[in-house]
Amino acid sequence: MRNIFIACDTNSVQIAKKIIRQSRIKLKGYKIGYKFGLEFFYSKNGRRFIEKLKTKNLWLDIKIFDIPNTSFSSIKSLRDLKNISYITVHLSGGLEMLKSIKKAVNKYNKKLKILGVTILTSFSQSSIKKVGHTKSIKDLVKKQAIIARAAKMDGIVCSAHEIKFIKNICKKMEIITPGIRLKGERLDDQKRVMSPKEAFKNGATSIVIGRSLMKGNIKNNIQKLIKSLD
Ligand code: C5P
Repeated sequence: MRNIFIACDTNSVQIAKKIIRQSRIKLKGYKIGYKFGLEFFYSKNGRRFIEKLKTKNLWLDIKIFDIPNTSFSSIKSLRDLKNISYITVHLSGGLEMLKSIKKAVNKYNKKLKILGVTILTSFSQSSIKKVGHTKSIKDLVKKQAIIARAAKMDGIVCSAHEIKFIKNICKKMEIITPGIRLKGERLDDQKRVMSPKEAFKNGATSIVIGRSLMKGNIKNNIQKLIKSLD
């Protein structure tokens, strides 16, 4: 079963409720999930809302990236959130940080799956150079995939352009791709994008999609997305 994660990128509980309400549809072969990122989690009532959610397939996209000790403690602080299935960490944090997060998950919330985030889909080859990287995005992501395997991550978040070689490194891991746009849609800040159909064809086990579902009626937009997968 493939997952379609809807990015609940809002700071409003009312809008989050609306997104969940409008996307409650049964789909053959696909499971809907919900992703709450920094905008929602940092909002005044965000955490409390997530805490009480009974919906399945929840992903807390807080992209942990800090020293090993602080990263460990952040998982400890989230230990009451037993309804969360996935959490994200930046693979650039390195093996020591990732191992420390894994240790915390094993201790406080065994069922939580850890997803390692590779180079963000909003980076292009030229903008990654500007932050000092001299290697190509492909090489950097390869290195990160090797680290993810060594740290026993449960899945990888990457652009759909990098799935094929990641699959060779991280054989059985879940692969979730952001940067998803239907043909002809605005890219906004995303640089390494692909259509949902192509992303699944390349081997994604899940996709995550936000803005392109949010304009107008969410239910209709999901149906349109599903139709585009035929
Ligand atoms: O609106 P859009 O479909 O571009 O949203 C993509 C979502 O995926 C956002 O919530 C963003 O934070 C998240 N994401 C991403 N790139 C990553 C990891 C997560 O765009 N590498």
